[in-house]
Amino acid sequence: MIATVYKGDKTFDVIEKEIEQPQNGEVRIKVAYSGVCGTDVHIYHGMMDKRVDMPQTIGHEMSGVIDAVGEGVVDYVVGDKVVVRPLDDRKVKASDKGFNHICEELKFIGIDSPGSMQQYWNVPAFTLHKLQESTDLKLAALIEPLSVAAHDVRLSGLVKGETAVVLGGGPIGLLVAMVAKEVGAQVIISEVNPTRIAKAKELGFDAVSPLEVDLVEYVKSKTEDRRADVVFEVAGVQPALDVMCEVAGIRGRIVMVAIHGVKKEIDLFKFFWKELKLIGARVYEKEDYEKSIQLITANELPFEQMITDVQPLSKIQTVFENIDKNPDGLKVLMDCQL
Ligand SMILES: NC(=O)c1ccc[n+]([C@@H]2O[C@H](COP(=O)([O-])OP(=O)(O)OC[C@H]3O[C@@H](n4cnc5c(N)ncnc54)[C@H](O)[C@@H]3O)[C@@H](O)[C@H]2O)c1
Ligand SMILES: [Zn+2]
Repeated sequence: MIATVYKGDKTFDVIEKEIEQPQNGEVRIKVAYSGVCGTDVHIYHGMMDKRVDMPQTIGHEMSGVIDAVGEGVVDYVVGDKVVVRPLDDRKVKASDKGFNHICEELKFIGIDSPGSMQQYWNVPAFTLHKLQESTDLKLAALIEPLSVAAHDVRLSGLVKGETAVVLGGGPIGLLVAMVAKEVGAQVIISEVNPTRIAKAKELGFDAVSPLEVDLVEYVKSKTEDRRADVVFEVAGVQPALDVMCEVAGIRGRIVMVAIHGVKKEIDLFKFFWKELKLIGARVYEKEDYEKSIQLITANELPFEQMITDVQPLSKIQTVFENIDKNPDGLKVLMDCQL
């Protein structure tokens, strides 16, 4: 079979290797598609070299079909369409209080252990979620990032009739916006990249550039001065942190989706003055996967338009080089059978 491996220094190899039998409690998946995540791009940039055991197959946003079942696996059979929730929480402790998805010793499959950018992938059966026979496997590769969005919106407590402002219209921001709209909220996206603003509008969103309009005034004009009930910080930059407390209205909830690798400045006075809440949101729980599987299966949101390119596994090096050159694209999928 063909597998890709990241070997450091912005380099991938495409290698030939033996197909392995699944161990006890594992299944072997014939991977259909594997999406490129921002984290994979970080790995490519060498920013996670201390964590990634090279040469390593990376990738965790995938869909596929079960190809072999190891001993002790009872809930799945060969031919089942599945996605993987790439969280290895086997070392969960009582002190994690049942929050397995953020347990202290969580291992992320596809970073800390081999991932999905290969033709066949062996994974523990407890990571699986079954899809319907009719589910489109291309769209199903979006289930992992969509589950991030489902988690963010669920933790925000957003309800119908409220206003959500999404700071950052990248792949995650757009998926958050879709889930928020599906809840019945008014959604406003703030994004600085003109191509991405155009894309957000194409997807049916109210999208503006904070470089061209005064975002706070814009949000006020759309909410009879109330401002946002929920702000999703999905841009990961200081200007978004500066504006998030301004855009939030009285008792607004701010959800921190972006991963800030270094300490940044926030105006804490605003939290006191308007009784704001800051909510951290990391990955997803089982119920978020179930929610996003339901959304992908129903296929009533513009998911198809999120996929801006599909390339064969053998092109992995060029795919990552092109993502670097072009920040306009959204989700690139690797076709793992080509
Ligand atoms: N919480 C989680 O578990 C989780 C999971 C996946 C990704 N993330 C994080 O979510 C964030 C978004 O991910 P992504 O893949 O969409 O990243 P991305 O970099 O593609 O998107 C960020 C967007 O923000 C825009 N932006 C930059 N400055 C801005 C500004 N001042 N105002 C508004 N928009 C601005 C950029 O143009 C870009 O389109 C990242 O920080 C990522 O690490 C978190
Ligand atoms: Zn991801």
